[in-house]
Amino acid sequence: MASKQWTSSALLMWLLAAERVYSAPVTSSAPFTEKTQYPPTTEARILAPGTQGFYPTQLEREGHPWKPTPTGLPYATPHTDPAQSDPESPWGLDGVWDTLDHPEQVPDHLLSFLIPGFGAIASGQAPSSVPVSAYTPAAATATPSSATPSEDQVTTHDAPTSTTSAHTKPTASASSSASQTTVSSTLVSSGTSTTSSTSTSDTSHSDISTTLSVAQSSVTPMSGGQDVFVPLATGPVPQTISVRNDHPVPKKGIETVTTPIETNKFYSGLFLGSQSNTTFTHPYGLAWAKGSGNAGSWGMAIAHNEVNVVANGPTNANIPGNPIQYYVNPIAIQHMILSATELTSSTELTAENLLPFSADAVLKPSSGSSQRITIPLVQGMGYVTGMYTNLQPLIQSSVFFTKLVTAAQPRVGIWKYKVTLADQTSWLVYAIPQDGKDPDFRLESNSNLRGPQGWSGTIQITKNPAGDSGEKLFDGSAGVFALEAAVSGSVQDRTGTYSLSFAKAGNKVQDTPLMMYALPHHVASFDETTKNRMTSITLRSTTKGNATAVVGETWSMVEPDLPTTMGFAPWSASSGSANSLSAAAQKVILDVAPTELNQSVDQQSNLNSMYYSGKALSKFATIVYTVNKLGGNPSLSATALQDLKTAFARFIDNKQQFPLVYDNVWKGVVSSASYGGDSGADFGNTYYNDHHFHYGYFIHAAAIIGQLDPSWLTAANKDWINMLVRDAGNSAANDPYFPFSRAFDWFHGHSWAKGLFESFDGKDEESTSEDTMFAYAIKMWGQTIGDASMEARGNLMLGILRRSLHNYFLMESDNKNQPENFIANKVTGILFENKVDHTTYFGNNLEYIQGIHMLPLLPSSAFVRSQNFVREEWNALFADTATTPASGVTGGWKGVLYANLAIIDPASAWNFFAQSGFDYSSIDGGASRVWYLAYAAG
Ligand SMILES: *[C@@H]1O[C@H](CO)[C@@H](O)[C@H](O)[C@H]1NC(C)=O
Ligand SMILES: *[C@@H]1O[C@H](CO)[C@@H](O)[C@H](O)[C@H]1NC(C)=O
Ligand SMILES: *[C@@H]1O[C@H](CO)[C@@H](O)[C@H](O)[C@H]1NC(C)=O
Repeated sequence: MASKQWTSSALLMWLLAAERVYSAPVTSSAPFTEKTQYPPTTEARILAPGTQGFYPTQLEREGHPWKPTPTGLPYATPHTDPAQSDPESPWGLDGVWDTLDHPEQVPDHLLSFLIPGFGAIASGQAPSSVPVSAYTPAAATATPSSATPSEDQVTTHDAPTSTTSAHTKPTASASSSASQTTVSSTLVSSGTSTTSSTSTSDTSHSDISTTLSVAQSSVTPMSGGQDVFVPLATGPVPQTISVRNDHPVPKKGIETVTTPIETNKFYSGLFLGSQSNTTFTHPYGLAWAKGSGNAGSWGMAIAHNEVNVVANGPTNANIPGNPIQYYVNPIAIQHMILSATELTSSTELTAENLLPFSADAVLKPSSGSSQRITIPLVQGMGYVTGMYTNLQPLIQSSVFFTKLVTAAQPRVGIWKYKVTLADQTSWLVYAIPQDGKDPDFRLESNSNLRGPQGWSGTIQITKNPAGDSGEKLFDGSAGVFALEAAVSGSVQDRTGTYSLSFAKAGNKVQDTPLMMYALPHHVASFDETTKNRMTSITLRSTTKGNATAVVGETWSMVEPDLPTTMGFAPWSASSGSANSLSAAAQKVILDVAPTELNQSVDQQSNLNSMYYSGKALSKFATIVYTVNKLGGNPSLSATALQDLKTAFARFIDNKQQFPLVYDNVWKGVVSSASYGGDSGADFGNTYYNDHHFHYGYFIHAAAIIGQLDPSWLTAANKDWINMLVRDAGNSAANDPYFPFSRAFDWFHGHSWAKGLFESFDGKDEESTSEDTMFAYAIKMWGQTIGDASMEARGNLMLGILRRSLHNYFLMESDNKNQPENFIANKVTGILFENKVDHTTYFGNNLEYIQGIHMLPLLPSSAFVRSQNFVREEWNALFADTATTPASGVTGGWKGVLYANLAIIDPASAWNFFAQSGFDYSSIDGGASRVWYLAYAAG
């Protein structure tokens, strides 16, 4: 790929810069020769290629053995018997249970590293023992269950009274502004300089004397265009929402943190459960070793996995090309470990400075000790860096050192060691002592490299995949490291621009450029300046292709052709919005509309689930919009609009079955459902799963109601909806009530759905289409209430999503980032940070796996789902000649598939939905025939 290479002029620029910055002479008076420290044993203990670790191939179900299908609604159709209306619903369990099992197919040489007990969850715990009603919005509209709830799967919950306190403002210390010190500094970006007003975001980072910092809370808006991060109001949540101080998930090692905590970001393994699951910074994964592994270390282990240790699932003969069902990276490999002699079983791990793109892991020999290693974990960091305070450094490996070379000092004050491991990989260790004295690290065994006692300074570790040229580049940036990052963004006309700026610290920080790794979707949208700072160093990321090392403190990305003119009407890439339909189409739509207008929005949204309730409101809003605006008949939909507002008021009054509460522990608005003990209730909403999905549907419905009837936009209604926006996608980084951008990860370019559940595989997301729905919903809500920044943010997020989904999730045949033997699946299924699994949490039917990336079909669907992708997927899987013809699919999924077909073949989609004697069982509970007809006609 030409764009990944240095152009010759860029190389020249680099050499000149390198000359200038790095030519400082080595201070030692005697000429230095490299010393080889071979390991003390004559023969290194060489392990198998996997060198320990294991493959977590089971689906981690977030406290639950299974989830209900997202279309499995009791009100799915005008039929009254849910079991009949959707055979794939939780009431008709066939097809949900029999396909969960993953037969493990791990390469032979890696078999012994499988974690014991695989498949236990999957191997058919009988559905009959599962209290179906525990997971379904049963009470209001159905009486399905003869099953007996078990103790931990209750159907009802005690009213959340005892621990509910009066509505009070979270403590004032939640505001970070008190400890902020603003500095004006220059960020040096190898060749270009940008001056910006920046500030340190917390006391700890400002303690690091040579820090250049960019805090998300004070980031300078980009010049020109609409700033996409103008904060919404940051005041208290509406009075109807009571406050609780007793969230079921304990904070581990962050007990004293009182600011809002990011619940869905890459580092939550630091403070959940065992605190020893992996933090994926990409390309590196870090995990507290906690006494495990060959080295028995208590330090922070670093893993970087090459493709030869990746395990593949079985191939799927039902899909043309027989793709593998999943691939998974090993867990718990400890290539290198940052530790200290003093770290033993009394070691304590805490986390500090929890920010949108970074967190510091802190290891202390014991609680309260002033000796510590502080390891800033920043997405994309080029080196793993440990700042040591008064400890004896111990660099370890459970893969085993086979060779260690004490190399020439690359620069004054920096000592360097070259490491070869038993898996033949090369690593570099840089030591920057505070006292400036040679630390003289000694290799004393296959797994231990020890430094001096009572040492303070910085140690940096990086893998070097690029030989001598890589080493030169790493030498050039050694000594500085990223501390935190901030995003800024703007939209001008139809072009969006966003930047990630990294704060750096370390040795000669002004003169030394930072090195960070960018993912393929960054690289593909880099502006010219950023492109010129790419190096030839690439390292494989776990699930997103190769990461590329980039020199500099700021990356700028450009997203062209944003859907700024897209509204509520059907939209296509070729013709834009279809605001008026043909008279013939209007007639068909108005003829069938009464059937669906006649459904009870009150009943369908009066549920024990925010997810299903939100879907119902969004569906009805869409029906009303379609009849009113596209059908041109406001009076026909007037009653439904009134009923919709009444049903919506139940939520704004917080009178739904499980009212929302303000969780004052992690800081956010959650369903009260799980305070009764069932962590998986309502898809884990209380644990911060899926908030962008759940709340996105409400926001979408509100956007439509408010445009149809601006008088509905009262302060109370707006505050409530804005609360949902702040919870799931906050634009402010200094809001004392909510963290910045809970779901959407501005580094990864999409959201993570997993909340506060500990996980081997990190965060994950299943439904890219519901992720897109959230971005679309805030775009439209911003438009409705006249918040140009929110509208622009939604547009930019849609542009970024289009790119990241194309790169990683919706795989066209020329996809470069997913393994060749995987892309015939067309969609990822669930993409985790550590594995990609062509499956869902609710079953393995092909229409589920593909369909959960389609629903809900909205104007934005055709924007992120390119025609080429939809065509390839349809032809391979759902055409009449394919393995799972859409015509033979049952239940609501059938309607989803045919609505998706409208993106490439609107006539066939129209014919399907317009047919006489239409079977409403193929419309799922969150969708409507009325909108699907309009979508196909538009
Ligand atoms: C609407 O519902 C009412 C009462 O349930 C029923 O009498 C009527 O036939 C329904 N209309 C349509 C078009 O379904
Ligand atoms: C990681 O998370 C899994 C899943 O919750 C858990 O079973 C395991 O104990 C955790 N810790 C480690 C070290 O794997
Ligand atoms: C990723 O890097 C590896 C190793 O350098 C290389 O073999 C592979 O072709 C790269 N993949 C892509 C898509 O560039």
